[in-house]
Amino acid sequence: MNSMEASSVTPQLLEQVKKLQEKYAAMGQDLSSYLDGLLYSDYLTYWDYIHLDTLLSLQNPKTSFPDEKIFIIYHQITELYFRLILHELEQVTAAPHPDIKFFTARLDRMIRYFAHLENSFDIMVQGMEKDQFLKFRMSLLPSSGFQSAQYRLIEFMCTDVVNLVNEKDRPAVGNQPVEAMMDKLYWRSGATELATGKKTLTLQQFEAKYIDTFSATIHQHQHDNLYQLYKKYYEGQAEVKQRLRQMDTLSNVLWPLAHMKSASHYLEKDPEDIKATGGTNWQKYLPPRFQRIIFFPELWTEEEKRDWGKAAFLRG
Ligand code: HEM
Repeated sequence: MNSMEASSVTPQLLEQVKKLQEKYAAMGQDLSSYLDGLLYSDYLTYWDYIHLDTLLSLQNPKTSFPDEKIFIIYHQITELYFRLILHELEQVTAAPHPDIKFFTARLDRMIRYFAHLENSFDIMVQGMEKDQFLKFRMSLLPSSGFQSAQYRLIEFMCTDVVNLVNEKDRPAVGNQPVEAMMDKLYWRSGATELATGKKTLTLQQFEAKYIDTFSATIHQHQHDNLYQLYKKYYEGQAEVKQRLRQMDTLSNVLWPLAHMKSASHYLEKDPEDIKATGGTNWQKYLPPRFQRIIFFPELWTEEEKRDWGKAAFLRG
C-alpha cells in the first residue's frame, strides 16, 4: 500500500466504519467517543499482552541455593501444562454432544501436553545438584507437589470418582454416595500415618483449602467426565478408544514413573530412605503398580489391568 492509499479514506474503510457504527448503536453507544479512545490508547506490546513482568516476578526461592529456582520454575511450567489440559477438559465437557472430530482433536491436545510433561521430567531428575536439593527441600516442609489441586481436578474430570478410590475399597464403596467415595480417595489414604490413621499436615492443609472445590467438581462432572462421555457417545469407536488408552497410560503410568524417578534419585539413600516432604511412605505411594489408578478401566483387558504399571505393561 503506498502512502496516498494509506492516507485516503477508501470505500472499504467507510464500510468498516459503518459496521462499527451499527455495532455500537445496537448497544446505545456513541462510536465517535470510542474512536477517540482508540486515538489516545497505546499500541499493544508483547510484554504487556502476556504479562511478562508479572510472570517473571513469580519465582521467589526460600533459600539462596541457585537450583531452588529450577525447582520452582519447573513446577510452574507443569502447572501451566495442567492448566492447558483442564482448558481442553472444560471444552469437551461443556459441549452438549461433542462431535467425534472435535472430541478426538481435544484428546490429541491433552496427550501432547502430557507427553511433553513426561519427556521433560529429566529437568528435575538430572538438572539439579543433589546436595543443594537435599538442603533447600528442608525449607519447603510440609508442602509437596501432592498439594497440586489441578492434578486432582484433571483426575475428577477424566473419570468416575470410584476409579480414584483406594483399590481395596473400590468394591465396598462402588454403590455409595459420592461423599462416601470421597472419604476413600487414594491420595487421602496415602497421606495418613499407618499406625494411627492420622492425616499428615500436608493433607490437612490441602483438604482445608480445596475439599469443597473438589466435591463441587466431582458432582458437576458425574455424568460428563471423559469416561462417561466415552460410554455415552463413542463406546467401541477405535479412534477414541486408542486415544483414551494413550491418555490413561501417560497420566497414570508414564508421568508417575518419570516423576518417581526424581524421588528415587534424590531420596533413596542407604541405609534408610529420606522422608518425603509431604509425609507419605513414598516407596509405597508413588509406584503406579501399587496405586493402580486407571481412568478408563473398560478399555483394558484383565491381563493389562493386572500388569498395570509393571515392566510387562510397558513392553505391551
Ligand atoms: C525433585 C523433584 C521431585 C521430588 C523428589 C518429588 C517427590 C514427591 C513425593 C515424595 C511425593 C509423595 C507425596 C509426599 O509425601 O510428598 C510427590 C507427590 C507428588 N508430586 Fe512430586 N516430586 C518432585 C517434583 C514434582 C514436580 C515438578 C511436580 C509437578 C507439579 C510434582 C507433582 C507431584 C504430584 C502431583 C504429586 C501427587 C502424586 C499422586 O498423588 O499420585 N512433583 N512428589
